[in-house]
Amino acid sequence: MKLKRWLTSVFFLIVATVSNAVGAFVGVNIGTDVTDLPSASNVVAILKAHQISHVRLYNANEHMLQALSKTGIQIIVGVIDEEILGIGESASVAAAWISKNVAAYMPSTNITAISVGSEVLTSVPNVAPLLVPAMNHLHKALVASNLNFRVKVSSPQSMDIISRPFPPSTATFNSSWNSTIYQLLQFLKNTNSSYMLNTYPYYGYTKGDGIFPIEYALFRPLSPVKQIVDPNTLFHYNSMFEAMVDATYYAMEAFNFNDIPVVVTETGWPSFGGTNEPDATTNNAEIYNNNLIVRVLNGSGPPSHPKKTINTYLYELFNEDKRKGPVSEKNWGVFYANGSSVYPLSFSASNLSNGNSIGSFCVAKDDADTDKLQAGLNWACGQGQANCVAIQQGRPCYSPNNLKSHASYAYNDYYQKMHNAGGTCDFDGTATTTTEDPSYGSCIYAGSANASIGGRSSSSTALGLGLGPVSPVGGSWLLHVSTLQYLISSVSVFFAMVLS
Ligand SMILES: *[C@@H]1O[C@H](CO)[C@@H](O)[C@H](O)[C@H]1NC(C)=O
Ligand SMILES: *[C@@H]1O[C@H](CO)[C@@H](O)[C@H](O)[C@H]1NC(C)=O
Ligand SMILES: *[C@@H]1O[C@H](CO)[C@@H](O)[C@H](O)[C@H]1NC(C)=O
Ligand SMILES: *[C@@H]1O[C@H](CO)[C@@H](O)[C@H](O)[C@H]1NC(C)=O
Ligand SMILES: *[C@@H]1O[C@H](CO)[C@@H](O)[C@H](O)[C@H]1NC(C)=O
Ligand SMILES: *[C@@H]1O[C@H](CO)[C@@H](O)[C@H](O)[C@H]1NC(C)=O
Ligand SMILES: *[C@@H]1O[C@H](CO)[C@@H](O)[C@H](O)[C@H]1NC(C)=O
Ligand SMILES: *[C@@H]1O[C@H](CO)[C@@H](O)[C@H](O)[C@H]1NC(C)=O
Repeated sequence: MKLKRWLTSVFFLIVATVSNAVGAFVGVNIGTDVTDLPSASNVVAILKAHQISHVRLYNANEHMLQALSKTGIQIIVGVIDEEILGIGESASVAAAWISKNVAAYMPSTNITAISVGSEVLTSVPNVAPLLVPAMNHLHKALVASNLNFRVKVSSPQSMDIISRPFPPSTATFNSSWNSTIYQLLQFLKNTNSSYMLNTYPYYGYTKGDGIFPIEYALFRPLSPVKQIVDPNTLFHYNSMFEAMVDATYYAMEAFNFNDIPVVVTETGWPSFGGTNEPDATTNNAEIYNNNLIVRVLNGSGPPSHPKKTINTYLYELFNEDKRKGPVSEKNWGVFYANGSSVYPLSFSASNLSNGNSIGSFCVAKDDADTDKLQAGLNWACGQGQANCVAIQQGRPCYSPNNLKSHASYAYNDYYQKMHNAGGTCDFDGTATTTTEDPSYGSCIYAGSANASIGGRSSSSTALGLGLGPVSPVGGSWLLHVSTLQYLISSVSVFFAMVLS
């Protein structure tokens, strides 16, 4: 789903990684369409400073491969799209490529995989017939160099080649690519290689037109009434990321390939976008990437394959300011060229213990619909049992006396109490999480660092109740209806994505 990459002569991607005890890791892609690209040795210094242990280059840049020597960092090198034709047509071209770009650096530079092209089926379909022949030629050259047990060959594919990713259990590859995909999977199976998947919940969410709760895209807990469930397997999907990975497993199974592991070669979230890209924010990017790392390093797989780690390469190390396309396209990076991070990001497992500490306040959105906001406020203070004392007249959070301010206070109070139990910051799309403490003056929000210093005024909840109607409908009935609605809308969203 990524826009087609703008190829330049110096075009490589690094993926940084951190491994945990069970061997799961998160790496980082490094694109080089950067005006002030640091030297290769400075790039490596940044990787080391952040304990990044796995990198992916989009090409086989000699300076990077030299600088990575003796670092212990594991590397995926890339065959660029333009090289596939020649390699696919000629075994000797493939052998020369391996000799120059792989064998020459081994073993001091630890190349562990070759990614052939970038989303070839969707971005350069005319090259597709030569993709698997190219992979075969490269593999044979590795065998001849006795490197095939150390270096695997694969090819990153876009999520777009899967026609209907939801529900995951019925996902299939777009039949236009039948023969290439069959050959690809056969190759991966024969060589014990992984399926490389580029997957972007950012696009799944933004193209879903608000039908998915943002929590689902950002790995945040879904409320019990908004679970996303596969109707065939009854697996609950806590994140769109996991659903997309599972869709890939099921699509492979539909071709009778059951043992090919999925490695996510690209995923991420842009930290800045144009006026028509409101979800590309620093806050969302920080939440997505930190929660992604927590999720991957947890070591468990997606629901259908709970024991298969979802090793992942973050997209991407630097903002690529020279890339074409919408503003967001230039803002996927997690570090500036000077090595400072765009937002707090921890690759360190020791900082990952409480996975949901990021984005810890819940407030009303600026542009929320007034009626929905009123309904959300009523619900939070009523059925939601938020403590709404502070927003009553004469209390610290009454002023400013407006709906957005009062809803923010109530939403946050509900959220602080309930999010560990699955309560979400959604309120019919009128709420959003933020890391910024919304407290002001003597109005202290729940969860604020200042709240513990006697900030929270009252323990009484009585005044807050009765502000809104309590639903007469039983909880379990509600749950079923909502679950069903989400199932249906999820399906239609994914259809919409496919048709768009
Ligand atoms: C290279 O990476 C592999 C993991 O694929 C690891 O087992 C090996 O020890 C590494 N070699 C060096 C020289 O770092
Ligand atoms: C399958 O791929 C073809 C060729 O790219 C495309 O025209 C078609 O719309 C796709 N079908 C689905 C269901 O995604
Ligand atoms: C692709 O494969 C599927 C499943 O094997 C089959 O149903 C479909 O007809 C095939 N499509 C084409 C175009 O070969
Ligand atoms: C793949 O793995 C199997 C079982 O671990 C092993 O017997 C086989 O030699 C491997 N093949 C290649 C090409 O690595
Ligand atoms: C890892 O994540 C899975 C899926 O979200 C969850 O069920 C499991 O409890 C987590 N395990 C740990 C040790 O946190
Ligand atoms: C690094 O660069 C960013 C963006 O240009 C800038 O905001 C930041 O202050 C710089 N940090 C240092 C330590 O120079
Ligand atoms: C953990 O996070 C804190 C605050 O962001 C930071 O100061 C510290 O260096 C991090 N620890 C590690 C081991 O990365
Ligand atoms: C928290 O308390 C400190 C010290 O009283 C004050 O400086 C700071 O502004 C307060 N923060 C908020 C968000 O109210």
